[in-house]
Amino acid sequence: MNPLLTLLQPYPFERLRQLFSGVTPNPALRPISLGLGEPKHATPAFIQQAMIEAIGRTPSGLASYPATQGEPALREAFAQWLKKRYAINADPATQMLPVTGSREALFALTQTVVDPSARQHGHEKPLVVCPNPFYQIYEGATLLAGAQPYYVASDPARNFAPDWAGVPASVWARTQLLIVCSPGNPTGAVMPLSEWQMLFELSDRHGFVIGSDECYSEIYFRDDAQGGPPLGGMEAAAQLGRLDFKNLISLTSLSKRSNVPGMRSGFVAGDAAIIKQFLLYRTYHGCAMSPVVQAASTAAWRDEQHVVENRALYRSKFAQVTPLLAEVLDVALPDAGFYLWAKVKGNDTDFARDLFALYNVTVLPGSYLAREAQGSNPGAGRIRMALVAETAECVEAARRIAQFVKSRT
Ligand SMILES: Cc1ncc(COP(=O)(O)O)c(C=O)c1O
Repeated sequence: MNPLLTLLQPYPFERLRQLFSGVTPNPALRPISLGLGEPKHATPAFIQQAMIEAIGRTPSGLASYPATQGEPALREAFAQWLKKRYAINADPATQMLPVTGSREALFALTQTVVDPSARQHGHEKPLVVCPNPFYQIYEGATLLAGAQPYYVASDPARNFAPDWAGVPASVWARTQLLIVCSPGNPTGAVMPLSEWQMLFELSDRHGFVIGSDECYSEIYFRDDAQGGPPLGGMEAAAQLGRLDFKNLISLTSLSKRSNVPGMRSGFVAGDAAIIKQFLLYRTYHGCAMSPVVQAASTAAWRDEQHVVENRALYRSKFAQVTPLLAEVLDVALPDAGFYLWAKVKGNDTDFARDLFALYNVTVLPGSYLAREAQGSNPGAGRIRMALVAETAECVEAARRIAQFVKSRT
């Protein structure tokens, strides 16, 4: 067996199952889960239809092996979307690839980029730097690539921005990959241009690749100058004159944008030299996208109306739920994403367990989404609430949480 498998940590939901084992939730209340970040809004009918048509056409979309690089029409749809969304020009032939969800893409990109033999002083593993709290795949991908994660705490005093400036130069010197998540999970924070500039300069100095996880980019709450569509990594690069997107790969997904988490569809784009190696890796890994999924994805990327409608649903939901919770918890509307990241009194695991027992509402303890690093766990004392269910259910959950918090004080 691969000994690196023993380094993997239990997934947060596995830990949650253990936390709740033996607890009987209040039977008088129906269960509501704000735990899993799985979109629950309806999948648009035209996406389903595109998939059905692709199966039914002659020859059927199931009748041939797909190319890892995807159909030209799909890559053209990526390029057009990037142009519309970020006003950037990227070459569909050399600068983008389809992926079967950003989760596998994050994993595979890490395997492609990391050179585990490049050890400094003969013994230290190379580093992958990522935010803390973070999406757990970053860590697992890093460990299985033979590297070591370096966690950078997000700072509640600076809108949860990870403290990149506090990372020692000796860490950057060992870094092969930096994973950025903007809008962040769980914080919802969007990274501003000034931080991108700092990270690009560090990447130039130390030669590491930046993987920019942007799967929440289309769920945001304001259209004014202070809010607006989140800045993308490639958009930031272009604004800073880095038109070749050197050492940058952005990962974008349909799961949240188009409510198709089961379709497993996204794309990566950026530095052509990395894309070339990534294509080589993926050809052997065997993760080409089904032609049927390609057809449905092409239709989804070409349409923006359903994304506007999806965003409107989240906006209305967050506008109703956030004030209810802000009365009792330290929580605010995030820049983007579909989570509320709230501070609670006392221990986050006790909070989650007691809330489940008394009010049958599931939330995720923040400490499960972060690691203890540099002396503290930046998720401790916080909970993540995924507002993915329909509005009435989320409002009901918020009312129960408010009652629960009042009953504890
Ligand atoms: C931060 C982050 N990145 C990536 C993903 C993976 O999304 P998908 O594989 O559906 O594109 C998720 C899913 O929840 C996520 O929260």
